[in-house]
Amino acid sequence: MFVPGIANRVLRPMLGIVDPLHALTMPERVAANSGFDVLCHALESYTAIPFNERTPRPENPILRPAYQGSNPISDLWSLHALRIVAKYFRRAVKDNTDKEARSAMHLASAYAGIGFGNAGVHLCHGMSYPIAGLVKQYRAKQYAVDHPLVPHGLSVVLTAPAVFQFCAPMCPERHIEAAGILGADITSVKKEDAGLVLADVLRQIMHDLDVDDGLNSIGFTSEDIPALVKGTLPQHRVTKLAPRPQTEEDLAMLFEKAMKLY
Ligand SMILES: [Fe+2]
Repeated sequence: MFVPGIANRVLRPMLGIVDPLHALTMPERVAANSGFDVLCHALESYTAIPFNERTPRPENPILRPAYQGSNPISDLWSLHALRIVAKYFRRAVKDNTDKEARSAMHLASAYAGIGFGNAGVHLCHGMSYPIAGLVKQYRAKQYAVDHPLVPHGLSVVLTAPAVFQFCAPMCPERHIEAAGILGADITSVKKEDAGLVLADVLRQIMHDLDVDDGLNSIGFTSEDIPALVKGTLPQHRVTKLAPRPQTEEDLAMLFEKAMKLY
């Protein structure tokens, strides 16, 4: 059974407690997957469609959705989260006694949360719901569960290289800037290579942190693509925030590219 994401204003918390000490006991895979979720929150909200280009525009501002598209205020939170991820993510995963790195990532999670809570995420998240919902036999490593499970952060990041390569032509400067923050050499990168450069640096981080080699390695094949596309189509809440509109054929191509990463 495929269960879609659930969102409503009344589900929004009144108070958040950011206490890094409780992040110290996360197993390595949990730190990796949740960190990739933070990374994608920051990247997707920074590259989301600009707030003044999003349609339809409601007549009354109170009717605007929670997700506004990228805007000057969410950009600050998203970019700062990205800088912290670039500096501390690898350390936080590899050494659970590294209090400085785990604390920094925990704070980055809160920062990116404020960023995407206002801007919204887009395609990686929209495509992640059917990946997680249609899981077959894959059992997440180091998760204490007795049933098949694709952790959220893993289901999100596996499509990230393909997604950002697809979206980059709409706002190449932002994709190049993000790639530079994440460690790519962007000194002479052309706009037309923005997506490739960001996809490459993402694949490098994923490889360094032992992420499974694409959807194939978690049990999906090309035969599953129609079902994965069908599960993505209703996710308008997020997919319409992508800077580039997608056809069913585009989504099928993105899932196909995400089958193998390295
Ligand atoms: Fe997420």
